[in-house]
Amino acid sequence: MQDTGRFDTLGRLEDLPQDYRDELTANNLVPLWPSLRAVLPPHVPARKTQPTHWPYAKLRDLLLKAGELTPIEKAERRVLVLANPGHGLEKMQASAAMYLGMQLLLPGELAPAHRHTPNAIRMVVEGEGAWTLVNGEKCPMSRGDLILTPTGLWHEHGHDGNQPVIWLDVLDLPLVYYVEASYHEEVPSQTVVPGQGARAYARGGVVPTPVFGRSDKAYPMLRYPWVDARAALLSLAEDQPDLEAVQVTYVNPETGKDAENILGFYALMLRPGQTLRLPARSPAQVLHPIEGSAEVQVEGAAAFTLAEADTCAVPGYTACTLSNRSATEPAFIFVADESPLHRKLGVYENRG
Ligand SMILES: [Fe+2]
Repeated sequence: MQDTGRFDTLGRLEDLPQDYRDELTANNLVPLWPSLRAVLPPHVPARKTQPTHWPYAKLRDLLLKAGELTPIEKAERRVLVLANPGHGLEKMQASAAMYLGMQLLLPGELAPAHRHTPNAIRMVVEGEGAWTLVNGEKCPMSRGDLILTPTGLWHEHGHDGNQPVIWLDVLDLPLVYYVEASYHEEVPSQTVVPGQGARAYARGGVVPTPVFGRSDKAYPMLRYPWVDARAALLSLAEDQPDLEAVQVTYVNPETGKDAENILGFYALMLRPGQTLRLPARSPAQVLHPIEGSAEVQVEGAAAFTLAEADTCAVPGYTACTLSNRSATEPAFIFVADESPLHRKLGVYENRG
């Protein structure tokens, strides 16, 4: 007789007579108990996301090779997807909700205008002279700039420079695809309209207010120049020398909320010689040094060195420790995570 109300060993599928199982299948029915512990494991969720490191040097070589092998007309977007082996490469997922792609645009090429339901951002990795046109706003692309192409906004990429331009795409594609809401539309081209959010919202604490009116745009700022985010980190570090985590969040300057709805974006500065532990939180995260490098020790996994422009994925519910080995230079790290999604779902946790 059970007196605790707890059942340690649940029945297996094979414990059931075959004719009963066949009858369930024929009626589109499945017994829960053989799978109950798999979908609701004790204390810590099952995660397919594995700690994964994508060194930029190798990725860059293979991407430039793709530039030789596949013309833009045959690719539309010339991207190598950073696929997490834990999900299976064919799933093209970095984590449960994040997709990462490294995209190459060669001088003179154009990635034509389209829009789609998944939200995207671009983190520029190298090259000058490219631009992204987002709903008519022309956003120049320089190393470290963050450019939003949120759900439903038209966007295209062009390149007036003379060297290859490469950027990291971060999308919530796996999530939007999972909820069966992923699709795209095309438009021949966009018209450039004057006005840039990056200029209109050039300083924190003040926002454009023509005749006391506030913008009602869902995405008033589309380009977050690295020069400004970097200056904000340096200013914060100088102002608060004892602050452990020198970090800023990319936000919608009208609402103060996350810049996009599903994924969160941050920049983190490690002081020279600093070691910083990022706590075990429910969302998976992606790290990408914009300047400098960091040793990364993911809890329960082998350590690796994240060189400048490398990218790595860290599963949810997993702490990691970052160390800047340089004694003289700070390291600046771009972070993407699934926090906005987890908060909206009510499942966000920080386990310290
Ligand atoms: Fe797109």
